[in-house]
Amino acid sequence: MNMDIEKTLTHAMQWRKSVKMFDAEKKVLQADVDDILDCSVLSPSSFGLEPWKFVVISDDDVKAQLGHAGYDQKQFTTASHIVVMCVHTAVDEGYVDEMVERVCTVRGVTLESLEEYSQMIKGMIRNKSKEEILQWSIHQVYLATGVLLSAAALKSIDASPMEGLDAKKFDEILDLEGSNYQTVMAVALGFRSSQDAYVAREKVRRSRDVVISEI
Ligand SMILES: Cc1cc2nc3c(=O)[nH]c(=O)nc-3n(C[C@H](O)[C@H](O)[C@H](O)COP(=O)(O)O)c2cc1C
Repeated sequence: MNMDIEKTLTHAMQWRKSVKMFDAEKKVLQADVDDILDCSVLSPSSFGLEPWKFVVISDDDVKAQLGHAGYDQKQFTTASHIVVMCVHTAVDEGYVDEMVERVCTVRGVTLESLEEYSQMIKGMIRNKSKEEILQWSIHQVYLATGVLLSAAALKSIDASPMEGLDAKKFDEILDLEGSNYQTVMAVALGFRSSQDAYVAREKVRRSRDVVISEI
């Protein structure tokens, strides 16, 4: 393990806060937004199915609409960018075929060599209800969100996760209705405002001894 990287990541995680009010004048550089999103794209997912989509909003009017649908939380209107983390709602056997074909193309292997793997995933899908598959897919979206939050922290860019929103209204605003995607949650990106009282408060976490057990 490279100790410099390890220290930097721990420091970044201590520094990060779920900022409640951003400095609306400060915008995140597009290159940094791109880097952060690239990290989410690289997030691991169960079987490599990547059942997600990330919708990035910088338009002020759309941010205002999302703010109303997000119970008027100030993060929506003061942030530089909002990333809406969406789940793919139709992970089925055809979706598995697409993933397997992608692996064949990238790795230069035959479809036959992946047939057993493909059938194993499809068998698992057949044994789950649609609702179970959706919940399983949503778990993957949360993982990609965690990667996004960590990537932003490493760049000293504030990122606030938010579930306090009306997902159906978000889908309407973002024109996702009738598509294979639904809103799960949102992340506000930007730079903390000096007026944000929350940021000055100590970080509160359960004790390491309680949370971690070693065998
Ligand atoms: C999935 C999820 C949803 C959250 N939703 C909201 C939210 O809607 N509004 C909000 O102010 N904070 C929200 N938070 C932030 C948490 O309250 C915050 O992460 C927690 O209190 C720890 O504080 P810290 O992130 O500043 O260390 C959410 C966090 C997570 C992980």
